[in-house]
Amino acid sequence: MSKNPTPLDRVRAFEREQAMKLSADERPLFHLTPLVGWMNDPNGFCHYRGQYHLFYQYHPFSRQWGPMHWGHAVSADLLHWTYMPCALAPDTAADAGGCFSGSAVEMPDGRLMLVYTGVQPAGTFRRETQAQCVAIGDGRDFEKSLLNPVVRHAHLPEGCSEFDFRDPKVWRGADGRYRMVAGNLHEERLGSALLFESGDGLDWQFVTELDASRGAYGRMWECPDFFELGGRDVLMVSPQEMYAREEFHAGEGTMAVIGRYDEAEHSFVRESVQPVDHGLTFYAPQTTLAPDGRRIMIGWMDSWETCKDAPRRHPWYGQMSTPRELFLRGGRLCQQPVREIEGIWRDTIVHDTVICEETTLPGVAGRLMDMTVKLRPAGSACRRFTLHVARDANHHIGIRCDLARGELVFDRSHGGSHRDIAHTRHVAAEVQNGELTLRLLMDKESVELFIGGGERVVTSLIPTPLTADQITLAADAPISVRVEAHPLQ
Ligand code: FRU
Repeated sequence: MSKNPTPLDRVRAFEREQAMKLSADERPLFHLTPLVGWMNDPNGFCHYRGQYHLFYQYHPFSRQWGPMHWGHAVSADLLHWTYMPCALAPDTAADAGGCFSGSAVEMPDGRLMLVYTGVQPAGTFRRETQAQCVAIGDGRDFEKSLLNPVVRHAHLPEGCSEFDFRDPKVWRGADGRYRMVAGNLHEERLGSALLFESGDGLDWQFVTELDASRGAYGRMWECPDFFELGGRDVLMVSPQEMYAREEFHAGEGTMAVIGRYDEAEHSFVRESVQPVDHGLTFYAPQTTLAPDGRRIMIGWMDSWETCKDAPRRHPWYGQMSTPRELFLRGGRLCQQPVREIEGIWRDTIVHDTVICEETTLPGVAGRLMDMTVKLRPAGSACRRFTLHVARDANHHIGIRCDLARGELVFDRSHGGSHRDIAHTRHVAAEVQNGELTLRLLMDKESVELFIGGGERVVTSLIPTPLTADQITLAADAPISVRVEAHPLQ
């Protein structure tokens, strides 16, 4: 006798049926989209049994956020993804309100442990609560622990919230023990990143609060990550409801705290703080360590502020960013697209030229492009340089450099939106060693701009019709420019 299908069986059957109707042509070339329905944060990013696994916040049944599942895809090169069946559905008492964000870690016995936030639904006179849960499996099927939730209110120090306690990022230390960093909303210190430790991944102890917003860097801190990079320790969080300050824009954003963690004292000392991405649509990034030692980050290429009313043009909604290699340079967290991207270069077109009047360059057009523009202003009177992409008679995305001020404006206000939302970002973009380098990745409906060798990044979805595919360059006085364009395939 066949047993009744579980909620997860039903999602997987739905996915199989949908997968037959969906064509890859309708998707970006190399940015991951959900198999069907809605996607937000990256979850469980890891390299396991010879391939990268990426899970994601997922609502298969509509293109809006809903009861959270974990979608799943695998890849050999971080650019070509194969869908796997849905990994988690909200189907136990510990997570009936949703399987929120979390991470994955390989266990000593070779199994994969997913650690995620289980949301327990609100009851009468009771708000929804959040606690951390575990599911263990083989990289395809996962069994939820009967001990769930394994980290709950009783584990928390005073002043911490059981209502805003989420997004565990787990790894194994050099001593073989598990560590977890999770976000919390402390009643005085507000957004806070809590560190826990465990010998087996099931029995956890609170260790310390790594850092907190103290009202300066937003309210709740979502999706923390904590990793070693270039001799420093980096705490990455996504603050909510932040006031604009320093280089940060108002609202939800991303932040890296670079510092040093003293293992014996359990104390993390801040050295510097910076946004991770300056763009209009980038949030909740997560990192993993590649087998070759690279620290790779991927983020949700969207924004809570604008996603709900964004156009739904496909049977899916939501995209991940390009995976990026992280490194420190001059004390700053920098990023570049993963080098695997060179594997999808179709061609290399180089122009060493002088730009003044608005110009198009032979072979430099399209919406699938990895293009580097090097401005060399030495000896030039040029103050303003403008790059227009995704352009036709009615549309363009503007990248305007003020070389004198060392500032760049990214502007999608003529990108085809009919909504009165943020369309521009102002970012520092200084000439260094005689050059300003702009690297632009375009994948149909997105632009990711890496400024100054990845010192600052501006990520943005663009609603521009795909037929708008011209690229033009212009300057207010002649300037030497080197363009290296790689159309992508
Ligand atoms: C961040 C977030 C997480 C939460 C998830 C729910 O974008 O709000 O804090 O776990 O999304 O989908």
